[in-house]
Amino acid sequence: MNAKSRLNGKRFVVGISGGIAAYKSVELVRMLRREGAEVQVLLTPDAHRFVTPLTLGTLSEREVLTEIFPANENGSWTKHVHLGLWADLMIVAPATANTLSKLVSGVCDSMLTAVALSARCPMLVCPAMDHDMYEHPSTQDNLETLRSRGTTVMDAPEGLLASGLTGKGRLPEPVDIVSTAAVILAYSTPRSSGPQVLVTAGPTRESLDPVRYITNRSSGTMGFELARAAQRLGYQVTLVAGPTALETPEGVARVDVETAREMHRVVMDNRNADVIIMAAAVADYEAGEVAGDKIKKGDGDLTLTLRRTPDILRELGTLRREDQVLIGFALETRDAEKGALNKLHGKNVDWIVLNNPTEAGAGFGPGTNKVTLFGRDGSVEPLPTMSKADVALAILGVALPDISREA
Ligand SMILES: Cc1cc2nc3c(=O)[nH]c(=O)nc-3n(C[C@H](O)[C@H](O)[C@H](O)COP(=O)(O)O)c2cc1C
Repeated sequence: MNAKSRLNGKRFVVGISGGIAAYKSVELVRMLRREGAEVQVLLTPDAHRFVTPLTLGTLSEREVLTEIFPANENGSWTKHVHLGLWADLMIVAPATANTLSKLVSGVCDSMLTAVALSARCPMLVCPAMDHDMYEHPSTQDNLETLRSRGTTVMDAPEGLLASGLTGKGRLPEPVDIVSTAAVILAYSTPRSSGPQVLVTAGPTRESLDPVRYITNRSSGTMGFELARAAQRLGYQVTLVAGPTALETPEGVARVDVETAREMHRVVMDNRNADVIIMAAAVADYEAGEVAGDKIKKGDGDLTLTLRRTPDILRELGTLRREDQVLIGFALETRDAEKGALNKLHGKNVDWIVLNNPTEAGAGFGPGTNKVTLFGRDGSVEPLPTMSKADVALAILGVALPDISREA
């Protein structure tokens, strides 16, 4: 099987508990990364005795997490929920007898066990332990319970064990874990029920002549992450995307547009969605007249006349249903809060997500973002600097708490 094409861009949480076979999980993380996957490693406190966060953090290129309550209180406490939604697959390898029993009974005393409880993605568990521990009825019952709940459990192969005994209890080879992961992902179907969400993303492109256009620096990442997060939460998502090279999130219906007018038309066609999130950086102005031929260079300056494009958010705010949730984005570089509040009230929306691209950690591109949410009810929710995937989940958590829970 060619796992590579299937794992490219996939997101894995790899939970490692405190067994001697933890050293093999270092190779597992390495293999997943080589296949193009993103990997978030979670170590139980006891796993630190077997492998180091330094090694795993270096290979995964992400901070390795252990505690639910981080020493550095920067608002990252929701990570156990975010990661459970972020991942396409959670792998627990090795799963010790101790961790297995926690997974079964719902104990969540570390980041690994907490993420396992909140994960909505499929889970692959790879037990590894001494032969007698493995064959013990408690362990076997736990494995059976996990299977009955839909978790994929790999059998522990037979062989020489660290204890010196021979029998079942070895961790499957990393290459076999990766192949099983690829099969699970190939057969897991995206959710397609629940409330409807319309998300706009990316820039628009306004032609001046057949070869030139006006656009902006939006990459579309924030909107695409919102679409991905909403789909994970169980919404039916339609994503209206301006020109961007980003891949469509799984399970999301995408409509590509180029200009502000095209975006206006598609959004209006879909304005009955339960939730509308206008994350696109829609051009405020278009050419007064698009030249039929390439504009020739002259000796002097050139003056362009620009015309206002339709104000999509204002129109949505005017036509909205009361039970609809309308979320707009404001990008301000000066008097940011005032600009956000004007937009919130002037356009009759429920939430404005303010970002200022000149702030550290915020702005365009695939990296992090730092936003503040302003609610119609007067609430102000500043979020810490986070990856755009985490910001997307946090925005949905704040703006749609009731619907998120139902979905
Ligand atoms: C050297 C050594 C090796 C161990 N190997 C295993 C093992 O392979 N599997 C297992 O279930 N427990 C093993 N244990 C026991 C676990 O480390 C112990 O139950 C621990 O509390 C597990 O914590 P955790 O599941 O939270 O990581 C080992 C203990 C020691 C000291």
